[in-house]
Amino acid sequence: MPTETVYGLAADAANAAAVARVFLAKGRPRFNPLIVHVAGHEAASSIGDFGKTAARLGEAFWPGPLTLVVPRVAGAPVSDLALAGLDSVAIRVPSHPVAQALLREFGAPLVAPSANRSGHVSATTAAHVAADLGDAVAAILDAGPSQIGLESTIVGLVGDRPTLLRAGAIPRAAIEQAMGALLAGPVNDGGAPLAPGMLASHYAPAARVRLDAVSVEPGEALLAFGPGLPAGAAEAAAIINLSATGDLVEAAGRFFSALRDLDRLAKTIAVAPIPQTGLGEAINDRLRRAAAPRQP
Ligand code: TXA
Ligand code: MG
Repeated sequence: MPTETVYGLAADAANAAAVARVFLAKGRPRFNPLIVHVAGHEAASSIGDFGKTAARLGEAFWPGPLTLVVPRVAGAPVSDLALAGLDSVAIRVPSHPVAQALLREFGAPLVAPSANRSGHVSATTAAHVAADLGDAVAAILDAGPSQIGLESTIVGLVGDRPTLLRAGAIPRAAIEQAMGALLAGPVNDGGAPLAPGMLASHYAPAARVRLDAVSVEPGEALLAFGPGLPAGAAEAAAIINLSATGDLVEAAGRFFSALRDLDRLAKTIAVAPIPQTGLGEAINDRLRRAAAPRQP
């Protein structure tokens, strides 16, 4: 879909399998949390918890090229995969008339990362999207070149201080003026954008995570993949199979919810081997970080 900043690769935010296909189409080697696009303030506040500062920034800049990261509302209609398991959500209300029309017609939130292959620059024309994503997308809504051509500014409102997470279409000073306060932040205007999702503390299970398990110890929870179960599975405290048929798109869609569910049920999660192909690379990246020793 076109937006006033860059073209976005849109999918139903609540549909984990559709969101998994977004990652597949982009060829992203890891699951970054995605921006959730909504038509207006009302839909925004059904997904995110807006404090005073967030509300003020929304009033000042929406619809428009500002993305606000706020705590997610419990039961918000957004899949865990779209948020990469985080308890915060990045929300944006685009001003582009075609994006607005699409959101109103669809009637529910759409995730939309920039419509380029991972590592490429963002697409600002339908032709760029077609060249980058080709057959991986169902349709391209061509509304001509993006007016702004630079991604939205991302402001984080979950920590102690409002933080500039990504410099973008709205200058830092304009946001500071609207807030009446300074933004903290690792990014200078015009500086190289960081990947803000990497700065956020991603959901880490409390349970120990044991990778490439070829057998299950009694009392462990099992995160299974594919038709066969490892030895000892009968003694597992709980089993969730990411995909009994070995479908990595299905597995990606279930992955974050499965990790959360098993975390409640056992002290150790044994994880069956997952192939390093397609979305398996991103699943394994996330698993390695879940299994890594915890920072104090
Ligand atoms: O202008 C834009 O923002 C475009 C158009 C299509 O709306 N979208 C866009 O999305 O640039 P994307 O996925 O390419 O960049 C989103 C950035 C990522 O770097 C991600 O890490 C960050 O937003 N992000 C999303 N949710 C976050 C969260 N809860 N906390 C911190 N960062 C988050
Ligand atoms: Mg991007």
